[in-house]
Amino acid sequence: MARQHSADGTLVRMVGIEKSYGRVRALDGVDFTVREREIVGLLGDNGAGKSTLIKVLSGAVPATGGAIYVRGEKASIRSTTDAIGYGIETIYQDSALVTQLSIARNLFLGREPIKGPRLLNRLDHERMNRVAGELLRRVGISKNIPPTTPIGSLSGGERQAVAIARAMYFDSDLIILDEPTNNLGVAETQGVLSFVRNARDSGHSCIFIAHNIHHVFQVVDRIVVMRRGRVVADDIDPKTSSVEAVERVITGMTEAGVHA
Ligand SMILES: Nc1ncnc2c1ncn2[C@@H]1O[C@H](COP(=O)(O)OP(=O)(O)O)[C@@H](O)[C@H]1O
Ligand SMILES: [Mg+2]
Repeated sequence: MARQHSADGTLVRMVGIEKSYGRVRALDGVDFTVREREIVGLLGDNGAGKSTLIKVLSGAVPATGGAIYVRGEKASIRSTTDAIGYGIETIYQDSALVTQLSIARNLFLGREPIKGPRLLNRLDHERMNRVAGELLRRVGISKNIPPTTPIGSLSGGERQAVAIARAMYFDSDLIILDEPTNNLGVAETQGVLSFVRNARDSGHSCIFIAHNIHHVFQVVDRIVVMRRGRVVADDIDPKTSSVEAVERVITGMTEAGVHA
């Protein structure tokens, strides 16, 4: 997809984002930026507002204030379809896969290739299965699972891998992963982490939310910390900061200065 590049390399800029649920201020004026080919780790305690922020960006939840710019242009993101149109794809913990359908069908859901004359509307199963097989190898499903396998019989990690494969194949510019490694086994977690680590090389940007701060340190370029609906640090370099220092920022024991 030949999308335009912004002049300063900024892919997404969220400015002054506000979101209230009744009297709960889930987001209280959040500024958040992702550059092209950048892997951003979003950290914060439970309830800090991480999921709400990415739901606003992915069109799942409407903001009550603020603006979003994609490649420098003001964006109107009112649905997940809008977000996908801007090249933003989100992989939730329980990704929206249809358990009765095969891996291949899930990969192409809503974008199935057609074989023969258009009006006969015959799905190109051969092509779907072939592409699905290649993608599964790329996202690190090493076991030879046939692409015709129903999603319902896959493990949590394998389902996650299918969702990731879908985002990769459809060339999303920004792939958002909200706690993708919860409930995954060790090998499956390594698969997800290696995907995130490699996303930059395949031209993607990523927002990675995870409970395990060590996982975040392993794969991201920059760490942003939220606390109580606000961004409290947005430029932590995992190469020069310690896990302990970042933990202090998360819990509010340090206001700024994460070089300990
Ligand atoms: N659908 C909702 N209805 C009411 N309150 C919500 C809803 N979703 C989130 N919240 C509240 O918004 C705040 C931020 O939640 P969330 O974005 O899920 O945090 P995080 O992902 O960082 O754990 C919390 O106080 C949470 O209880
Ligand atoms: Mg969350």
